[in-house]
Amino acid sequence: MEKDLEKELTGFSKLNREERFQKLLELGFLSENDIQFLKDGAVVPMELAENFIENVIGFFQIPLGVATNFRIDGKDYIIPMAVEETSIIAAASKTAKWVRDCGELTTEVRGSSIIGQIQISKVENFERLKNAIQENKVALLKQCNILAEGLERRGGGFVDLTLREIERGESGDVMAVIHLYADPVDAMGANIMNQVCEAIKSTIEEISGEKVNMCILSNLVDSKLTIAKVCIPNIDPELGHGIEEASYFAELDPYRASTNNKGVLNGIDPILIATGNDWRAVEAGVHAYAARSGQYSSITKWKMFGNDLIGKFEAPLIVGTVGGMTRLHPTAKMCLKTMNIESAEHLSRIVAAVGLVQNLGALKALSTVGVVRGHMNLHTANLAMMAGATKSEIALVQKYLQEMLANQKKVSVKEAEVALQEIRK
Ligand code: MEV
Repeated sequence: MEKDLEKELTGFSKLNREERFQKLLELGFLSENDIQFLKDGAVVPMELAENFIENVIGFFQIPLGVATNFRIDGKDYIIPMAVEETSIIAAASKTAKWVRDCGELTTEVRGSSIIGQIQISKVENFERLKNAIQENKVALLKQCNILAEGLERRGGGFVDLTLREIERGESGDVMAVIHLYADPVDAMGANIMNQVCEAIKSTIEEISGEKVNMCILSNLVDSKLTIAKVCIPNIDPELGHGIEEASYFAELDPYRASTNNKGVLNGIDPILIATGNDWRAVEAGVHAYAARSGQYSSITKWKMFGNDLIGKFEAPLIVGTVGGMTRLHPTAKMCLKTMNIESAEHLSRIVAAVGLVQNLGALKALSTVGVVRGHMNLHTANLAMMAGATKSEIALVQKYLQEMLANQKKVSVKEAEVALQEIRK
């Protein structure tokens, strides 16, 4: 019988690192080898860095933690998150517990194709181009699939090609853009898409008599969307309406939408980093999709339906579980294994779910007590370190600052320095 994970992980944040390791080993999320690797500092061979980028001089480390309490589509997860910001993991775990206890978190993916773009900047004859594309569509897709060796065999491949017309505005001229659609299966697909787009450029030019200016994938992948939904039935009406209003604010106002979406990405980016994925691509896609109506808006929506609070996240989350760093970086490999990730689609669903829960945590706090006290309580350790506290002094300075926080809204390095002086006396 499956263990009751929530019970097993109660008090996880209070454990020391060794105890956390033992718990995660016991529950099967980490192996003895993983633990040894982490204890040894999760060191990545320098040759790997030399192969990834240029002019390498070293590594930049950020902390790797795990968020607990996630039940997504009825399955339990430990979520590895690589992130430097205090309180993200604590808020994710706390909100996931609330959702797990009182509601439901479900996900789905709609569509499977990524998009490549081929630009013909000033079209000489749009009708001729359109006919050439229509007549040669099947042959072009066949050529793409030959170029993308093995993609069809792995269950994916180039599946469609469309033509868009964009008015240039100045002179009545038009720009044409060919969109190539491909299912990259478990790869993020950027390399294969860019290679194929560039490789068929000359064929497009030959059949159309037009000149191609540039080719590149698009990060606005509205043909492959990941959706996460949270339902909290019978929520306290005041709390539910507070969250709904906070969400409506972000829906209507781009200034607020930007911060709302940053909060969603607080949940998303750390998983992308931990699994070796291209977080810049995902960020670009999420923001572009959030502006698809012409006005930048929230990427999540929360609404009350009767007594139930329903939240939804919908955006392109193009990730890979093969290719790039995912299978080469030992920590990324370990993190994928920790979540038992079966496919790129599976990973994107987990990422969407955590982003939505992170947003719920922020909106819940913002529409009730605010985020400052919770954040500052956790941030006191950073302040103590900034003030120069030694390992044995950090907890004492934290205690002092937390007591101060109970009576005032704000503490800073200055208060930490005073606390340190007092302690040292
Ligand atoms: C801070 O990192 C994230 C929040 O600002 C998100 C939000 O305002 O929704 C708290």
